[in-house]
Amino acid sequence: MVFVRVLTTSVVVALLWVVTRSIRRLFFHRLSHIPGPRLAALTWWYEFHYNVVLPGKYIFKIQELHREYGPILRITPEEVHINDVGFLDTVYAGLRDKYEYPLKALRVPGGVGATADAKLHKLRREALVPFFSKRNVLSLQHLIAEKVDQLSEIIAKHAIEASQINLSDLFFAFSNDQLGMMVKAGEVRPKKKPSTESLPPQERTLTRLEQEGALLALAGTESPALSLGIIFYHLLANPSILNRLRTEIETVPTHASWPQLEKLPYLMAVIEEGNRLSFGVTARIGRRAHEELVFTPSSYATTPGTGVSYKIPARTPLSISTLSAHTAQSVFPDPFTIDPERWLGEAGRKRKRFQMAFTKGSRNCLGIELANAELCLVIAALVRSFEMTLLDTDARDVSFEHDYQIAMPNIGSKGVRVTVI
Ligand code: HEM
Repeated sequence: MVFVRVLTTSVVVALLWVVTRSIRRLFFHRLSHIPGPRLAALTWWYEFHYNVVLPGKYIFKIQELHREYGPILRITPEEVHINDVGFLDTVYAGLRDKYEYPLKALRVPGGVGATADAKLHKLRREALVPFFSKRNVLSLQHLIAEKVDQLSEIIAKHAIEASQINLSDLFFAFSNDQLGMMVKAGEVRPKKKPSTESLPPQERTLTRLEQEGALLALAGTESPALSLGIIFYHLLANPSILNRLRTEIETVPTHASWPQLEKLPYLMAVIEEGNRLSFGVTARIGRRAHEELVFTPSSYATTPGTGVSYKIPARTPLSISTLSAHTAQSVFPDPFTIDPERWLGEAGRKRKRFQMAFTKGSRNCLGIELANAELCLVIAALVRSFEMTLLDTDARDVSFEHDYQIAMPNIGSKGVRVTVI
């Protein structure tokens, strides 16, 4: 009898709690004025359905919801998403905290990229910056070139054996090896002394440093490999782009250096376009401003809105996904088609402010220079030396179908496979 009474009371209390919390979230929450589906404002189960059950599909659903609700959207009880690249600088510039909730998925709380607090992030990042400066990467160029040679040797061996090559696997191994080899060779010692001595003792524990290392390996492996796979698929599927690129690459010496390659406009345009279509980090990497922000739709907004301004309370997790930015028709017409031309000339230069593959601001990618060096050297070497043909590979092997922090293609895809002569 007592048990039944306790059970009934518990159920009633739980129900009351759910009802009052739902009323608060819908009508008295600081984000109640932001448009969006009721269910998304009520519960995280809405996101769970799209991201876990389907899976990795919420980012696409968000774009669909923008078409219905306009350029500003409440996507979870606590979070706002904007579909207007005119607002990119406001979201990502300045000193911003990150939103803790999605960072947990990375499971490396001690890593610089998974650090929510802006001040702690600054401290951790300053200790790493000299290792990834352009000057330091330039001094490591010979190591990157060594790995590119090894990559070419493997491909040449497959050409002799007439056996197929999985480029996606090969690029993954290349970028991962790259980091490992640099560390092993003890060559990551930067020219400028890092400020690691200035890190307090709790920042120098083995666990913290292990997590930092894990994040670097994760960040430095997946993304360059993905961009390379996407670029090679599109080059092989579009012979006119490949031929134009090859003609340009043949204007520089066979073992051209990274600085020489960086001066080739079409090569750099192909890399920009490959990075755009890779969508960088696809997850909503929400930022929290310390101050209240006001969103007014800009001329870049592509979803219908009322033109009304919205106040976004301080510390609201706010994001513009790379899917939203890189497919904005106002900046990237026909966004799912590869078109390196869009990055050429004055128009291309202006467009770069909307390239979000490396995000923006003080929390942008730390490995931009290393990534650029890797991409330039690999593309130049392989395009110059090999004639490849796609094998059992189509657009769905490189298209963005699932958001698993980075863009994942069709489930079951075996990657970009080729034969070589
Ligand atoms: C094409 C290649 C690459 C792309 C598209 C890319 C993209 C990104 C993006 C979008 C972020 C920001 C994520 C966020 O805001 O949470 C990021 C952060 C980061 N990336 Fe990369 N990345 C690439 C290559 C690399 C490489 C080669 C390294 C070298 C280890 C690297 C190391 C990092 C680190 C350490 C961070 C965290 C920076 C911070 O929070 O201050 N990335 N990357």
